[in-house]
Amino acid sequence: MNSFTIAVAGKGGVGKTTFAALAIRHLHHITGEVILAVDADPNANLHAKLGTSPRRTIGDIREELLVEADQLPSGVTKQEHVDYQIRLALAEGDGFDLLTMGRQEGPGCYCYVNNILRTFVDSLSERYAYVVIDNEAGMEHLSRRTTRTSDVLFVVSDASKAAADSAVRIAALAKEMDLGIGRTALVRNMLPPDSDGQDAPAGFDAAYAVTASAAIRSGSMRSESLLDIPQHDPTYQDISKALDEERKLARQ
Ligand SMILES: Nc1ncnc2c1ncn2[C@@H]1O[C@H](COP(=O)(O)OP(=O)(O)O)[C@@H](O)[C@H]1O
Ligand SMILES: [Mg+2]
Repeated sequence: MNSFTIAVAGKGGVGKTTFAALAIRHLHHITGEVILAVDADPNANLHAKLGTSPRRTIGDIREELLVEADQLPSGVTKQEHVDYQIRLALAEGDGFDLLTMGRQEGPGCYCYVNNILRTFVDSLSERYAYVVIDNEAGMEHLSRRTTRTSDVLFVVSDASKAAADSAVRIAALAKEMDLGIGRTALVRNMLPPDSDGQDAPAGFDAAYAVTASAAIRSGSMRSESLLDIPQHDPTYQDISKALDEERKLARQ
C-alpha cells in the first residue's frame, strides 16, 4: 500500500506527542482507516495520550532475540518468530494500532537483529494507509530508519526562541541527511487565540499555527487521553486543518 506517512519532531515539551495523538484521531475520524501509530521516543508516552496501556516494545523484542536467538521453537524460522512477536506488541486501540519502539540498543551487536526488525516494521507500515510517527526530542533520531521516507515531517515549536532555533536546525539537518522526506512543515504550537498566520520561514515548505487549548493545558479531562477532548477544541481543530492541507497537497 502507498501509505501516507507523517513524522513529528521538535524540541522536548513543545507538543510533539499531543500533535501526533490528535493527528491519529483526526485521520481516523475523516478516513475511517485504522492508523498505524509508531512511538519512536524511548521515553514512550504516546499510549497515554491515546488512552491505551503500554505493551512490549520493539526494544524488548530486540533484547530477547539476542538472548534467545538459538532457542527458537522447532519448525519456526527466525523471521516467523519476529513477525509473531511484533504482532503481539501491537496495541489495538480505537481507530489505531500502536507500535512502541522502546529503548535503543545497548552495546551488543545488534546489526542482524535490527535488520530483521526494520524489515518487519517496514512491511507492517505498508499494510496501513496512514502512519504517524512520534519522535524523541532532538535530532539524533533523524538518522534512524523510522523518519525516512515520510511524506511530511512536522517540526513542532512553541513561542520560545530555543524551540524555534531547534526547529530550524532539525529541518536543515533533515534536508542535509537526505532522508527522503516529502515536505517539511513548521507547527507553531500553543499560540494565543486569533494569532496571525505567518509565512513559512526559510527551510520549511509550510507553517501552521496551533492555538493553545485550556482543556489540554489544565489536564481537566478525565484521563491523559486526547481521544476524549471535544471536537471543537482549538488545538484539535488547528491540527486537523494542518493535516487536511497536507493530505490535499500529497494527493495532487
Ligand atoms: N496546544 C496545546 N495547548 C495546551 N497545552 C499543550 C498543547 N500542546 C501541548 N501541550 C501540553 O504541553 C506539554 C508537553 O506536550 P507533549 O505533547 O508531551 O510534548 P513533547 O511530546 O514535545 O515532549 C503537555 O503537558 C501537553 O498537555
Ligand atoms: Mg513526546
